[in-house]
Amino acid sequence: MKHSRIAGTGSYLPERILTNAELERTIDTTDEWIFSRTGIRERHIVAENEHTSDMAFEAAKKAIESASVDLQTIDLIVVATTTPDRIFPSTACLLQQKLGIVNCPAFDLQAVCSGFVYALATADNFIKAGAAKCVLVVGADAMSRITDWTDRSNCILWGDGAGAVILQATDEQGILSTHLHANGNYADMLTVPQGVSKQEGSKTILMEGNAVFKMAVNTLDAIVDDTLIANGLEKADIDWLVPHQANIRILQSTAKKLGMSMDRVVTTVDKHGNTSAASIPLALDVAVRDGRIKRGEIILMEAFGGGFTWGSVLMKY
Ligand code: UT7
Repeated sequence: MKHSRIAGTGSYLPERILTNAELERTIDTTDEWIFSRTGIRERHIVAENEHTSDMAFEAAKKAIESASVDLQTIDLIVVATTTPDRIFPSTACLLQQKLGIVNCPAFDLQAVCSGFVYALATADNFIKAGAAKCVLVVGADAMSRITDWTDRSNCILWGDGAGAVILQATDEQGILSTHLHANGNYADMLTVPQGVSKQEGSKTILMEGNAVFKMAVNTLDAIVDDTLIANGLEKADIDWLVPHQANIRILQSTAKKLGMSMDRVVTTVDKHGNTSAASIPLALDVAVRDGRIKRGEIILMEAFGGGFTWGSVLMKY
């Protein structure tokens, strides 16, 4: 078994919807400003007693069901998150407990908005190394918990949710390539400074929005080129772009780079906002379930986020 392939997808969004109209009432902003600058109309927000592992559990159940795999065949769980329930144990262990699986390895992976791409690449490498055959890969984030809801410069962006896939070992082609990068020199441009060993600074997101925007656009352009060259593909060979949903203008820029019309770009940012590690698997699940993405099509997933981290996964679905 030389390849890994997505056998099923699932996603979950919390019940509560926070609209731009509601934000107009609490901060100095307008629906018009938010929509024109970001493409966002609304986002979902976790309930007070709901945690990242709860969202991960709901998304995971749907992915497992759609892949028609027996729970006990899952031999690795990777959860990409920046907003774990606890400092420890990992959200992956809490999810494992909720699912009722024991003994398989389970760990969290933190690469902020690039988390799902990092997790999928990691799972793919476990499978290619023969160390796993059936991996549950989840992206789940409760960004609302680390958002300063009085800071209009970035609170308008974030939302909560979870997406999951089952990645299985197979003889057929599935994931074609993965590219991962990071540059810690930009750590302060997009950050929650306070952590565990460092107990000073803001506990909520600080972002130099405009500078991050420019870096994201240029970096994603470069990774699209790298991915096409590494696979010997032309732009026209890509059937679907399933990008991290940060800002519609970033998505439009990557689509333009690929010479792709926006109807080949899976876009959920209008209804989900930026759900960090959850955004790509959420978008993928939406487009698989509504029948847009079909087996055999070539899908490009890419993301850029805090770190900075960035990456791409190219796959035959
Ligand atoms: O997923 C991880 C990666 N993250 C991203 O990729 C996010 C990248 N950044 C962005 O999406 C955008 O930079 C933002 C949406 C955050 C901001 O949009 P922008 O077009 O870069 O606006 P800006 O920060 O340059 O601000 C333009 C103006 C400023 O007013 P002045 O100085 O021109 O008078 C801001 O004060 O817009 C003002 N402004 C707002 N006005 C109404 C900033 N936030 C708001 C707001 N409502 N919420």
